[in-house]
Amino acid sequence: MAERKRILSGMRPTGRLHLGNLHGALENWVQLQNQYDCYFFVADWHALTTDYASPEAIRENTWDMFLDWLSAGLDPKLCTMFIQSDIKEHAELYLLLGMITPLPWLERNPTYKEQQQQLDYKDLATYGFLGYPVLQAADIIIYRANGVPVGKDQLPHIELTREIARRFNFMYKSDIFPIPDGLLTDSPVLPGLDGRKMSKSYGNCIFITESEKDITEKISKMMTDPQRVRRNDPGDPEISPVFAYHKLYSSPAEVEQIADGCRTAGIGCVECKKILIRNVISRLAPVRERRLKLEGQIDTVKEIIADGAARARRESIITMELVRRAIGI
Ligand code: TRP
Repeated sequence: MAERKRILSGMRPTGRLHLGNLHGALENWVQLQNQYDCYFFVADWHALTTDYASPEAIRENTWDMFLDWLSAGLDPKLCTMFIQSDIKEHAELYLLLGMITPLPWLERNPTYKEQQQQLDYKDLATYGFLGYPVLQAADIIIYRANGVPVGKDQLPHIELTREIARRFNFMYKSDIFPIPDGLLTDSPVLPGLDGRKMSKSYGNCIFITESEKDITEKISKMMTDPQRVRRNDPGDPEISPVFAYHKLYSSPAEVEQIADGCRTAGIGCVECKKILIRNVISRLAPVRERRLKLEGQIDTVKEIIADGAARARRESIITMELVRRAIGI
């Protein structure tokens, strides 16, 4: 047990998870919990770096997210789940790391400028937003994590974490912090209903606990190959988002039959979607069932998270004692 490598990852509380989150991250986490000592947390302080002016939804989104994590198969017997703001030690380490992090490292961070441009209706010229990756570094190294499963967009933050950990070890002649690796999941990008990246802000999501009725309606309206206007027109499956879903949800035989049928106009879009609807519903049914059950057991969920916090706190307290000793403060 003690030999197991430690993995840590977090998500900002965006509320209910969609299929992009499921295949891009959560499924991978569910696998990892069998092999590693896993820590998964909801980064509510990170949500505040962009939503400080309207923090109302953060709390509710946090619990919504835990319910979805548990519904998707994260198991409190196998992994530690907690809320970032429950562990005040993250804030202390964040402060201390702030002392040794050169400003240019943060100003150079590509997501800093990108996000500011993308979210230009929010004022992100704040100290907290610039320090986002320092807080993320604290989240990771306070558990002395070895690996951090993340999407590609997060790699610059992991690189910064590695640099900050190295700098701390070097400056205070310590070996407290392992240098964590970013673990990329090579999952296919799942397009949204309209073919763009699946994202809440685009309103093109299928949620992981969606009802049968909503799955049916959403897939029925989904974009297909735009060149295929009439039933008899041959299509290109690789252009159609529906086909991207078939690759994930349908059997290899079905995928082959559909690809072939699409190219030869042997199968129509309605029929093709029907097969997909059936397969998506049967894959998501157990997730939805668990969610409905958990909604009636909120106290149990709160206990799970309190338990997780206790475990996380124990670990972060140990690290902080080493950190204070290394600095001599
Ligand atoms: N920045 C991450 C995201 O937006 C969330 C996050 C915060 C995180 N702290 C972390 C991810 C630590 C991994 C490790 O997805």
